[in-house]
Amino acid sequence: MATRNYDVVRDDIKSILKQPGYDDGSIGPILVRLAWHASGTYDKTTKTGGSDGATMRFSIEGNDPANAGLAIARDYLEPIKQKHDWISYLWTLAGVVAIEAMDGPVVPWKPGRRDKLEEASPPNGRLPDAEKGADHIREVFYRMGFNDREIVALIGAHCLGRCHGDRSGYVGAWTHTPTRFNNQFYVMLTKPGWQEKKLDNGLLQYADKRDRLMMLPADMAFLNDPQFNEIVQIYAKDKPQFFKDFAEAFGKLLELGVNREEEEAKL
Ligand code: HEM
Repeated sequence: MATRNYDVVRDDIKSILKQPGYDDGSIGPILVRLAWHASGTYDKTTKTGGSDGATMRFSIEGNDPANAGLAIARDYLEPIKQKHDWISYLWTLAGVVAIEAMDGPVVPWKPGRRDKLEEASPPNGRLPDAEKGADHIREVFYRMGFNDREIVALIGAHCLGRCHGDRSGYVGAWTHTPTRFNNQFYVMLTKPGWQEKKLDNGLLQYADKRDRLMMLPADMAFLNDPQFNEIVQIYAKDKPQFFKDFAEAFGKLLELGVNREEEEAKL
């Protein structure tokens, strides 16, 4: 068997991040979204869903409307998976490598996921709905096992990337630096002047004064909910604190549903 050298895999992932023809020139943001959506289906009560299994490669989860567009990320990673025949699907590792390469924190990551069959797929509808507010966000993230501080830290990843009209229906980026990991999501969110903007497809989003940046209704919940807002204010002023909390929360997210004892017992 080939040696399990994760550094080589990390280097291969790094080498495909820059894609001049794609969005803002990097697939880093969509790789982060893939890692999050692969993990964020976890239900702590039934211990189903989560990052183990890579079940998004099958149609049930792949066709969840919340995952629209993520085939692009999976397709970019496929040749790397094929090249290293000993590795399981590398979506969580790709998210970690992308964040680091975009100047973000080092996120703790451990191997040990398996490629499961389609019957292990979680049902659709477990990921958050961007049209909804704080109650819905808490329901979804508490189901995964997160607290308010961790939820606020995780949403800071919206410093990256953009919304696409042909995927979620929303349009635009949250920050002026969509390929850099930083605390700009909170900095922008706490600036005054966000205004409602109705899109032609009927969706409502928010635009800054000059209509260059956007926020989702769910993002605005972090401004308007008093408990969330308190933590938003901290991260807007303290980037190192955000980096520390984000790295811990994202590392925890990627571990959801991973069962190494079972794996070891089988070997
Ligand atoms: C309340 C929770 C959340 C909601 C409602 C939400 C919703 C969305 C939506 C609608 C998009 C646009 C998709 C598209 O049109 O391409 C998006 C993009 C994105 N989300 Fe979230 N999200 C949430 C939490 C998170 C979390 C926890 C992370 C990671 C830790 C994350 C990372 C991203 C990234 C990086 C993108 C950009 C993807 C790209 O550029 O293609 N989101 N999110």
